[in-house]
Parts: sequence; C-alpha cells; structure tokens
Amino acid sequence: MSSNSPAAEAARRRTFAIISHPDAGKTTLTENLLLAGGAIRAAGQVRARGENRRTRSDWMKIERERGISVSASVMTFDHDGLMFNLLDTPGHEDFSEDTYRTLTAADAAVMVLDAAKGIEPQTLKLFEVCRLRDIPIVTFINKMDREAQDPFALLDEIASKLALDPAPLYWPAGSGGRFKGMLDLRRNRFLPFAKPSADGHGHPGPVAFQSNAIVTHLDPDEQGELEEGAMLVQEAAKPFDPQSFLEGHMTPVFFGSALRHFGVDQLLEGLGAYAPPPKAVAAARGGEGTHIAPGEKEVTGFVFKVQANMDPNHRDRIAFLKLCSGRFTRGMKLKVQNTGRQLSVNAPVMFFASDRELAEDAFAGDVIGIPNHGVLRVGDSLSETGTVRFAGLPNFAPEILQRVRVKDPLKAKHLKKALEGLAEEGVTQLFRPQMGADFIVGAVGQLQFEVMADRLANEYALEVIFEPSPYAEARWLGGEKADLEDFMGKHRSAMATDIDEQPVFLAKSAWEIGYVSERYPKVRFERTKERA
Ligand code: G4P
Repeated sequence: MSSNSPAAEAARRRTFAIISHPDAGKTTLTENLLLAGGAIRAAGQVRARGENRRTRSDWMKIERERGISVSASVMTFDHDGLMFNLLDTPGHEDFSEDTYRTLTAADAAVMVLDAAKGIEPQTLKLFEVCRLRDIPIVTFINKMDREAQDPFALLDEIASKLALDPAPLYWPAGSGGRFKGMLDLRRNRFLPFAKPSADGHGHPGPVAFQSNAIVTHLDPDEQGELEEGAMLVQEAAKPFDPQSFLEGHMTPVFFGSALRHFGVDQLLEGLGAYAPPPKAVAAARGGEGTHIAPGEKEVTGFVFKVQANMDPNHRDRIAFLKLCSGRFTRGMKLKVQNTGRQLSVNAPVMFFASDRELAEDAFAGDVIGIPNHGVLRVGDSLSETGTVRFAGLPNFAPEILQRVRVKDPLKAKHLKKALEGLAEEGVTQLFRPQMGADFIVGAVGQLQFEVMADRLANEYALEVIFEPSPYAEARWLGGEKADLEDFMGKHRSAMATDIDEQPVFLAKSAWEIGYVSERYPKVRFERTKERA
C-alpha cells in the first residue's frame, strides 16, 4: 500500500493509449514499451499471452483469423518512479466506437506512423477523436529500418493534415538499409542503430556528435547530411514547448524502429517527462457543475468499457473503471450514480502487464477491473457518495441495422437475454420495434455482426441468422414531450426502444430523416446519445 497522498500518487500516473492505422506497428510498439518499462523480459510475451487467452476464449478466433485486435485492455507497469497505464485500443475501423470510449480514459496518446506511409485514414480519424477530447499527442515515426519517406515530408504532413506543430526531439540518419541511428537534438549526441547482422542484443551507447568516435558510425557524407538536416529542422520547426503540447497545438516527434527496439526507451522517457498526469475532470455533483481533482478525498471514476467472459470459467463481466480521484482500496463500497446501487469492490483487478493481480489500492489515472454480473454499464459513474456524475460516454447511431433470428425457435427467450447482455457491454445496440416481435441489432461495422454471431454461438449456444432489415438509419429523439408524442403517434410502425427504453426512430433511408426533420422541426433526430 502506498503511503503517499492521492494527489502525489496521481501525479506519478501516466495513462495513455496508442493510436495508429492497422499495421503501423502498434502491437510491436506496445510490446517494446513493456520491455523498455521492465514489465516483460523478452519480446514475444505479449503475443504469447494473447495466444493463451485466445485458446481459452473461442470467440476471439475471429481476432486470430483476421489478425486484428477486437478487444481493448490495459497494461500497467511501474518504471522510473512512474506508474504507466497503457490502454490498448482495437485498430480495426469497425471498432471505432470502442476505441473512442477507450480514448475517453486516456490522458495522452502516442500516434504511431509508418515512416513509409505517413498519416493514414485511421490515424486521422483517431487523431480527430483525441483533438475533440483535448488529448495531447506524442508522435512516434516507426519502421525507420525500412525505406522511409523524407522526414521533412513527414513533418509537413503532420502540420498540414493535423494542423499540429511537429517538434522533433530526435533527427534520423537515413532509413532502410542506410538507417544509421538518430541525433538527440536536445543533448547533441548520436544514438547509433545496430545493424541487423549484429548479435541483436542492444544498440551501441550514445556518442557525442562532435567527437571523433562518430566516425565508427557515420561516414563523412552521412555525418554532413545529418548535420545539415538537423540544422535545417531546428530552423524550420518551432522548439518543443511542453505547454503548447498539453494544449494540443504541438506534438513532440520521436523516430525509431519498434521491431528492433530502437527509439523506444527514448519514447518512454519522453512520455514520463512530458505526458500529463490525470487532470481535474468536469462532472456534476448533486446536480451542480464542478471539476473533480485527482487529489480529492472521495473516490470517483467512470466505466469506459465492459468486457464479458474474459475468463469463460466464470461467467462474469469486467467493467473497466477509470479512477478520477481519491485512494481506492480493496473492499471499498462504491455507488452507481444513476441507479443508486451500491457495490462492494472486493476483487478489483489491476492489469499488470505480467498478469492479472488483485489491486490493494489505486489512484486517479489508474484503471481497475471490477467483476460484476451486469450491474455496471459503459458510461456509469461510480463514487463513494453516489452523487458524482461524469459526462456521459456517447452511443453512436449504428450504420448497419439487421434483423436477428435464432435458428431454434424454442430458444427465442435466450436470445433476448443474450442480445441484452451484448448491448450492455456496448458491443452492439439493440432495438425493439414497437410492432412485431423482431429484434433489430445495430452496429457501426459489419465485423461486429460476425463477432456477435460467434459469441452468441460460443458463449450462449445460440445459432443465429442475421437478415437484412428494412431500416438504414436510427435516431434518438429529443424535444418537448407533447411534440415527441405527436411524432411517435404518427410513426408507430417506425418506432422502437433501445436498451434503456429510450425511443428511437428507425428510418428506411437518410432521405427519410431529412424529410421528417423538415416536417417536425420541434423534434430533434440525434445521431448520438449520452446515457442519462
Ligand atoms: P499493428 O498492431 O499496428 O497492426 O502492427 P503490428 O505491430 O502487428 O506490426 C505490423 C507489421 O509491421 C508486423 O509485421 C511487424 O513485425 C512490422 N513492424 C512493426 N514495427 C516495425 C519496425 O519498426 N520495423 C519493421 N521493419 N517492421 C515493423 P508482419 O510481417 O505483418 O507480422 P509478423 O509476422 O512480424 O508478426
């Protein structure tokens, strides 16, 4: 147990996520950050652990077959006096909603770019989410051991596509077969990159750039080129300003090769030095707007993710709670703000990279897993008094709506329960039309239906069939009661309720939404819903 104050403990937390386009190297970087942080001893463990988990959990077959990571988790490691919490976000675009929610729990993000490809579509999307939530971004330009774009062009791309000032802290010497290492621009020393043919254990230590020793690593041309590049970039780029970074105007840029464990220690050092500890979070306490500071006495937090059956032997669900204040200790009682339900958190789980461990205490910035049986939902606010509410996490209007049917009609009842379970996790959304007995399932991407079918079969022994539904769009309704009732009365056949019994309008086309919006100007047709 820590004897430090909650404020002091929070100050040494660094909770961050990695955002990237698939294949840029997020998994490899995650693994190498854990290696750099001393959380694992050899590369390969993250994958190996993943494999173990997968063999235990059948539905993740899809993940293995498709080579994508479907579920997000968190990895905690203690390094250099700091506690790092790395939130893993799924990379596939179908899971952007899940990723979005995970990012709400991050205090900073590392944006990984493939040095040959620069900013890719998914990088941009995720970046926009970070910007929306004022999450500061650290850039890691990966795969320098492969043929890369000109580093100046990469910086230009960051500046023009993201409207972000890039501030390189290092500058690379070549790339691909000619990659020799990088210059530490702040300390003016060169970090040599060991050739792949070297024995593979570590890279040579830093050498002063102006020293004679540099000739062992760079020939005169390379040295000249690096010197010129470094000079140019220092003239052209604004110097790194930590405040501007925290405000989201600037990104410190690191270079490296995650695969060859080069530049990763420097990135981790940079995160420790510049990434912010958790800050005060906007909330309502007893209905009054306020900010909850990490050092406050009362333990508070919000659930940003719920994951079922991480351990199929226990049919539990784990709710991931991001702590926002106080000293959480095991056995503590916390109340759910919107339902008033109290729960004793006797078996919280912290996700140390090495394995799951029982948490004795935890502080703002940390994420704890709370096993529960459907009590906790995504977006729930928890606190000791039960009076604190953090701004809701949004649900997004699904982009695909399908009808779901179970092959064995005797199992229709089970289907309802199973669908509700998955909807509570926030995996898919469930709509119950007012007329007819069908269920309509909505998701932001096609892949979610496959994951769902797989999970229904494996976890609930239900063979289901998805069929096209007549609907293309779903909108939550907002407005005065009388106006809503008028609208709903006239559109009974297109009305449904969601899992919270909120009314939802199901439209056959986007055009229809436009049409009803014009005819019912007092009714709002909303694309997102924040749970009350
Ligand atoms: P992701 O999670 O962002 O999707 O990417 P991941 O780490 O899985 O990396 C994608 C591919 O890029 C992998 O190769 C990985 O080995 C490679 N890679 C990652 N970082 C670097 C790097 O710094 N340099 C080089 N040269 N390659 C890198 P793969 O062949 O698709 O997978 P695998 O067979 O190696 O697992």
